[in-house]
Amino acid sequence: MTKVSMTVNGTAASGEVEGRTLLSSFLREQLGLTGTHVGCDTSQCGACVVHVDGKAVKSCTMLAAEADGAEVATIEGQAAADGSLNAIQAAFQEHHGLQCGFCTPGMVMSAAALLKDNPKPSEQDVREYLEGNLCRCTGYHNIVKSIMAASGQDVSALAVE
Ligand code: FES
Ligand code: FES
Repeated sequence: MTKVSMTVNGTAASGEVEGRTLLSSFLREQLGLTGTHVGCDTSQCGACVVHVDGKAVKSCTMLAAEADGAEVATIEGQAAADGSLNAIQAAFQEHHGLQCGFCTPGMVMSAAALLKDNPKPSEQDVREYLEGNLCRCTGYHNIVKSIMAASGQDVSALAVE
């Protein structure tokens, strides 16, 4: 077992992990941050996306030990302390960017990373960026719309909801 320490959503967190323990497992099972979902464990679905040192990472593809000393952000840290949603979460709510919600934490975390690098993405930019995030419910359209709306762009011309 190895001791790992990291900052998660601004708070110091540490624990004992095996060498094979995935970051997703550490977050969910040791820290109780179950908002990070695990849909495949094989790096395909993107439900487990978190930020590690500001970059979007599929947390099922990273060992917890590799995140030692890192700044990690998860979906639990996205809303304000009073529970009010951030702009991306609010746009998903307003534009029906989710149905079952399973993919949503990963979608929101990926969207946050995209908008940090590309504050006014085109529809094509969003679709390409979300290539690694699978959704089995929505058909993606309203997710794309939500992310574009969160960037402050007028989405009224983006077809039907
Ligand atoms: S659970 Fe990590 S990509 Fe699916
Ligand atoms: S809303 Fe159900 S998987 Fe995306």
